Amino acid sequence: MQPARLVLLASLLPLAACQPGDMPTPSGAEDFATYCAACHGRDGKGAGSVADTMDKPPADLTQLAAANDGSFPMTRVMSKIWGYAKAPDGTVMPQFAPLLDGDRMVLFDSGDGIDTPTPLRLGQLAQHLRSLQD
Ligand code: HEC
Repeated sequence: MQPARLVLLASLLPLAACQPGDMPTPSGAEDFATYCAACHGRDGKGAGSVADTMDKPPADLTQLAAANDGSFPMTRVMSKIWGYAKAPDGTVMPQFAPLLDGDRMVLFDSGDGIDTPTPLRLGQLAQHLRSLQD
C-alpha cells in the first residue's frame, strides 16, 4: 500500500461511524457496480451494457492515471464525479443523489492537502476508481 493511500484511508475512517439501526453503507465497489457499471463496465474500461447506445462513449476509467503521467488525478476525478453528481439534468452522466447522503460526511484530502467535507460514499467511490487503474 502506498503511504498516500494510507493517509487517505485514515482520513476517511474516523467520521464514518454508523448510527445504530442504519443500513450498512455500500462499499465503493458496490456503488460503482450500482451507479457506474452500466456505462463504464464493471471493470471500468468503458464497455458497459448500455455503452453501445450512447452518442459519447463512456470514458475508460482504468486509464486515468496512465493519461496523467502515471499518477491518479484524484483532485480532478473527485471534482468531476462531484460535479456530475450536482449537474443539472441533460448532461451525459446521471445524477447520483444517494451518493450525496449528507449524514455521512468525511474529511477527504483528495491530494491538494485540503481536507474537504465530502460525502463518504463519494470518497469511497474515488478510492475504488483509483484501485481500478492499470
Ligand atoms: C449513463 C452513462 C454513464 C454512467 C451511469 C456513468 N458515466 Fe461516467 N461517463 C460517461 C460518459 C459518456 C463519459 C465521457 C464523457 C464525459 O466526460 O461526460 C463519462 C466520463 C466519466 C469520467 C471522466 C473521465 C475523464 O477522462 O476525466 C469519470 C471520472 C466518470 N465518468 C466516472 C463515473 C462514475 C464514478 C460513475 C458512477 C457513479 C459514472 N461515471 C457513471 C457515462 C456514464
